This record gives sequence, structure tokens and C-alpha cells, in this order.
Amino acid sequence: MNSVFIRILLVLSPLVLWIFSLGPSDGIATAADKNIGRDIFLQNCAACHLHGVAQAPRVGNFAEWEPRLAAGRSNLLNSVLRGKGGMPPKGGNASISDAQAAAALDYVVAQVLALDRDAQVASRSGM
Ligand code: HEC
Repeated sequence: MNSVFIRILLVLSPLVLWIFSLGPSDGIATAADKNIGRDIFLQNCAACHLHGVAQAPRVGNFAEWEPRLAAGRSNLLNSVLRGKGGMPPKGGNASISDAQAAAALDYVVAQVLALDRDAQVASRSGM
């Protein structure tokens, strides 16, 4: 096996686990849900996660997320709802619902996974 193949396997396995961990009611399926997640993210999460305030993993940096994604959606959601390290519960906004916090999480993960896909396409085409 060559190293490119191994790298693709390594990258795909958490992605596949992630997809299977999504229950029917978790819904990142519709465009409306995605927009809700984006709005919640911009209002409650972006202040830290765009530029890495308080060591927050940045949405523009796949490497900062890769080990966290491997923990799976339910663990990440738990961190968002209860807080972790420098992150207060729900990013500090107790008025958002659990479902809204989950939508923001799904938005973050979709952004991060899209980054990695772009990087792979670029490296395969020699860019
Ligand atoms: C006040 C800054 C701040 C805000 C606001 C914030 N975060 Fe965080 N977030 C952090 C920091 C710092 C960490 C790293 C925590 C650690 O690993 O010690 C983190 C980690 C995470 C993680 C990874 C958790 C894990 O288990 O590794 C996720 C997912 C996350 N944030 C999502 C969100 C979402 C979704 C929101 C909005 C609802 C949000 N964050 C708002 C600072 C913030």
C-alpha cells in the first residue's frame, strides 16, 4: 500500500464514523438546518473559533480539529453543552437550546471536513 492510500484511509475512517453517529433526528440534512447552524455559530462561537481565542481550535485549521473529530460527535456535543477548558457551556450563551448548540457544532464540523476535502483535491492535482 502506498502512503497516499493510507492517508486517505486515515482521513476517511473518522468521517465514516461521524456519518454513522448521526441519528435521524440530528438532521444536518436540510439547507434550513445548515443556515440555523451557521447563524448560531456566527453569534455564539465565532468570536473564539475563528481566530483561536483562548486556544480554541480554529474552524480554518483541519489539523487543530483532527484529533478532536476522532472523539466522535456525542463527545464533542457534550463538550459544547457542558463546556470544556476555556469554553463555557454553549459558548457562554445559556439561552440557546441544546438543538441550536448541536446545529452550530454540525456547522463547524461540516466546515472543517470541507477544508480537508479541498486540501486532498489540491494535493492530488499537484497544487
Ligand atoms: C469563549 C471562547 C469560546 C466560545 C464562545 C466557544 N468555544 Fe468552543 N472551544 C473553546 C476552547 C478554548 C476550546 C478548547 C477546549 C479544550 O480542549 O480545553 C473549545 C473547544 C470546542 C470544541 C471541541 C471540544 C472537544 O471535546 O474537543 C468544539 C466542538 C467547540 N469548541 C464548539 C463550539 C461551539 C459549537 C460553540 C458555540 C455554541 C463554541 N465552541 C463556542 C472556546 C470557545
